[in-house]
Amino acid sequence: MPYFIASPCIDVMDKSCIEECPVDCIYEGNRKLYINPGECIDCGACEPVCPEGAIYVDWRAPAEAKDFVADNDRFFADPLPGRDGPLGSPGGSRLSGRIGTDTPLAATWQGADRQSLAAAGDE
Ligand code: F3S
Ligand code: F3S
Repeated sequence: MPYFIASPCIDVMDKSCIEECPVDCIYEGNRKLYINPGECIDCGACEPVCPEGAIYVDWRAPAEAKDFVADNDRFFADPLPGRDGPLGSPGGSRLSGRIGTDTPLAATWQGADRQSLAAAGDE
């Protein structure tokens, strides 16, 4: 698994990363963007241009971002809400256009602070 996009992208979607990607493998959901693990060539060009610091390579990801490694994969491998089948490898986000839906993790994301508060309330 190569580069991936984590929670700081949610509801920000600056999209500077899309301009930098030489293989056009960054796809737009509804609340965040996702890197296609089968299309990414691990060049690293997207990571420094994100103003939110939302992009990581998997082996250097902080613990709080780890859930989004598998979640980027899920965006392409699982049928997303409102779609009949998985997205797979569409061959470029300019071809596919905006996908406009999210993984369940991103769709229900309330922010790390609020999520940890909710978890504390459950104890
Ligand atoms: Fe999101 Fe950063 Fe790209 S906020 S859209 S990952 S530039
Ligand atoms: Fe694209 Fe390179 Fe990032 S292939 S997703 S710019 S690591």
